[in-house]
Amino acid sequence: MVKNFNQFVSATAPGKVILFGEHSVVYGYPAISMGISLLSKCNIWRIDSNKIVIELTDFNKHFEFKDLNQCLSELPNEFKQIKKGIELINNKMTEDIKNIKIELRSSILIGSGLGSSASTAVALIAAFSKFYELGMDNEKISQLAYEMEKIIHGTPSGIDNTTCTYGNLLYFQNKKYHIIDNLKDLEVLITYTGISHKTSIAIDQIRNLRKQFPDLTHKILNNMGEIAESAEQELKSGNLENLGYLMNINQGLLASLGISNHIIAEINDIALENGAFGSKLTGAGLGGCVISIGNDLENLSHILNEKGFKTFLVNINPHGVKINEWK
Ligand code: MEV
Repeated sequence: MVKNFNQFVSATAPGKVILFGEHSVVYGYPAISMGISLLSKCNIWRIDSNKIVIELTDFNKHFEFKDLNQCLSELPNEFKQIKKGIELINNKMTEDIKNIKIELRSSILIGSGLGSSASTAVALIAAFSKFYELGMDNEKISQLAYEMEKIIHGTPSGIDNTTCTYGNLLYFQNKKYHIIDNLKDLEVLITYTGISHKTSIAIDQIRNLRKQFPDLTHKILNNMGEIAESAEQELKSGNLENLGYLMNINQGLLASLGISNHIIAEINDIALENGAFGSKLTGAGLGGCVISIGNDLENLSHILNEKGFKTFLVNINPHGVKINEWK
């Protein structure tokens, strides 16, 4: 008997910034992340024909497959993460997935360190779970999104899928997290360097450095973890200035590991010269985005825009992944 599934489901998941502890988090040190007000969305419709239709709006791609086998064998490799997600869901079903149109889109720049892949993965799993009434809770959604992340990032720490699932400000270590209750909302200015990056390249670079200089690298990564611990206290007390100092120190340590570059440094300089309390790369580095905090981020945003940089002023997303009524 074919179950009468939902006709339409829409799920959104936030992107993320890592405030403290990227890279060191891969080696088990604590980090702090924030779900942001930029979202990815997955819509799923039931359609009349047996096909599987996939619409990847941001890539301007439209695929139509006659069945699941064709979908899994012919969806181009650049979308292997989506293929993995569909497989993971199909494994939970008694019949193969069919009669559906999946649409994925995101307001998060791809390859920019803002969690576009994790946020899309979380939205996709959540939408499927609701569409087929699979009853997954957030923990399960995050876990499957992590499986999808592994396809492209190798050995991710899990901070991206966790943040894109739960939103908020998170203290994360070894796949465990707690929400940081901060005194007030945190506004963060994100500036795009204009250089898209591959997380795996940055991770490999640090792994190699760790092999070559184990003691030295250990000390630097350990310091990053200590910074994250102190930052939690500053977030709780709402001391933005101290938080800014800690960001600048974290940036210095990331630069010492070789994953900053001259554009990141230029943005940091502009931010600090124009009143920001702190500024650092966020995510894997080697490009991607810079985050800055301060009292007048709108003014800083204008200054950076005038110099040709794209900026986004974001707040904490307190919801995490959400099933929405609207399209
Ligand atoms: C990527 O957003 C953050 C890294 O620390 C990698 C990871 O945690 O998996 C660079």
